[in-house]
Amino acid sequence: MINDLRNIVKKFIGIDIGGTGIKGVIINGLGNVLAEGSVPTDADKGEEAMMSNIVDLINSMLSSVDIVKREISGIGIGCPGLIDSKNGMVVFAGNLNLKYYPLATEVSERVGLPVKITNDANAAALGEAKFGAGKKFEDSVLVTLGTGVGGGIVIGGKLFEGGNSAGTEIGHMVIAEDGEKCTCGRRGCYERYASARALIAQTREAMSEHKESKMWETYTLETVSGKTPFDYMDTDETAKNVVNKYIKHLACGIINIVNIFRPQVVMLGGGVSEQGERLTIPVQEYLDNEIFAGMTYAPVKVVKATLGNKAGVFGAAALLM
Ligand code: BGC
Repeated sequence: MINDLRNIVKKFIGIDIGGTGIKGVIINGLGNVLAEGSVPTDADKGEEAMMSNIVDLINSMLSSVDIVKREISGIGIGCPGLIDSKNGMVVFAGNLNLKYYPLATEVSERVGLPVKITNDANAAALGEAKFGAGKKFEDSVLVTLGTGVGGGIVIGGKLFEGGNSAGTEIGHMVIAEDGEKCTCGRRGCYERYASARALIAQTREAMSEHKESKMWETYTLETVSGKTPFDYMDTDETAKNVVNKYIKHLACGIINIVNIFRPQVVMLGGGVSEQGERLTIPVQEYLDNEIFAGMTYAPVKVVKATLGNKAGVFGAAALLM
């Protein structure tokens, strides 16, 4: 009872920095949303532009609900890339053009509140584990299928960030030796096959090769999205092949991760996960067939994450809880 009251009174800010947009929430300790908002990232305009967007977002959320800063326990931030969470430093974020950027200090100095940061997928995994699809499980893995492929691992209810908080970069696990070139410098990385960006590239390539594909009825190479092949998979052979190949790659990476961490649940997040059972059912089938030593001991479920694009902000806020 007293704990519940404390959780209602305590307030936290969660920020999720993405390649194109930055989302924010103010929540209490029970996960009730008190305020929310979003701003563009403007990564191409430099770090000052991004910083002032973050500060504007925080101030506008605070003023929208008349909350003053001293009521806030702190700010949590999820940011893509390699994050030194102990020192609050973005060591490397390729998609944001940031290198050795002291993000936590910068935000803390401008806003006047304590700040903790972690990798974006780590934050989302913590959000799902605490408030979403992972709530009932001690050990969970979140795979985010967006611009890149992110991974967050929660073991025994605790976020596992790898040594020096530099691990769990599952998108950069090679699944095809000498395969497609990745932005990280390697070839054949998982995210070159299983990200939304990869799926779009695969769909464009298939459409270019198959002018007879029904996907041309409503899409051009410019308007293709991660949804396109799924929209047509039941009526068009080319679309079906794109989806099947994509799912095979997606499953391959998931089975690799499961064989290392053996969580009770794998949650799929990010834009492509909106396809729900069209992904989870076939991926579960691959997993059932290929998981090390079979499913009789320590079975693993594949589910869609439930917090949608809020997982990151919830998890970021949870860094302070
Ligand atoms: C980055 C990760 C990030 C993921 C999702 C990858 O390319 O290396 O740090 O979590 O994309 O944004």
